[in-house]
Amino acid sequence: MNPAVSVKNLSVNFHEHTVLDNISFKLPDRSFTVIVGPNGSGKSTLIRSLLGIIEPEKGEIRIYDRTPSGINPEWMGYVPQTKTLDRNFPGIALELVVSGLRRSWPFFIKQNEKEKAQSALSRVGALHLSNRPLTRLSGGELQRIYLARSIIHNPRIILLDEPMTGIDAAGEADSYRLFDELNKDMTLIMVTHDLETAFHHASHVMVLNKKLIGYGKPEECLTGECLRIAFGHVGHSHPRLKGAADG
Ligand SMILES: Nc1ncnc2c1ncn2[C@@H]1O[C@H](COP(=O)(O)OP(=O)(O)OP(=O)(O)O)[C@@H](O)[C@H]1O
Ligand SMILES: [Mg+2]
Repeated sequence: MNPAVSVKNLSVNFHEHTVLDNISFKLPDRSFTVIVGPNGSGKSTLIRSLLGIIEPEKGEIRIYDRTPSGINPEWMGYVPQTKTLDRNFPGIALELVVSGLRRSWPFFIKQNEKEKAQSALSRVGALHLSNRPLTRLSGGELQRIYLARSIIHNPRIILLDEPMTGIDAAGEADSYRLFDELNKDMTLIMVTHDLETAFHHASHVMVLNKKLIGYGKPEECLTGECLRIAFGHVGHSHPRLKGAADG
């Protein structure tokens, strides 16, 4: 079977500064890949390259055998790391979710769009927030609304850039239950700083620091050597990873 994502010799520079350096990997369909790496290591740049937001200097990206610009946008869901939404915008949560179906803000919502949005909100446990003004959402609540927005199309692949920021422990457990459920039909790629969760939930882990330092199953990839190259000493400061970090 063709991979969901295939990246060959990808390099990205910003102002002659290399951010991603000759990266190649293939992600199987319906895999759950977690990308870990220190701040500034190119994780968001990789996600944005897969989305076609960033044009790479060199290399080839194929998503379900298509280029990022040639892919049906409905196939991809995205939760950005930085929420560019103006928090004073006079909209409600439901409208933000429906905006995932369009390229513009939905001033008028059709009944079928409302039903899709409510179904997505229900899946992320946020149906009760449907009519809440965006200005009255907490950071964690806004994260959930963005998560609902990313799944409203029922995409084939979801790119999640630090989706747990601001979500409380119970919400995090709910989110992972949802990810496991979505993962039955969808390919998931998630950036996180939570190495322990990566170890327990992911089918694959990518350790990134400009170069691809490691890629494989969590137990193969979250090894002491890999983490030391990417993070310096930090691998040993994660007690639950000690077994892996000592490997
Ligand atoms: N649009 C841009 N223009 C110039 N430099 C950029 C741009 N976007 C990112 N960079 C630089 O590229 C490098 C990688 O940034 P990126 O956002 O991909 O890191 P990251 O691994 O996601 O970090 P974090 O964990 O802090 O989110 C950083 O040095 C950053 O300053
Ligand atoms: Mg980032």
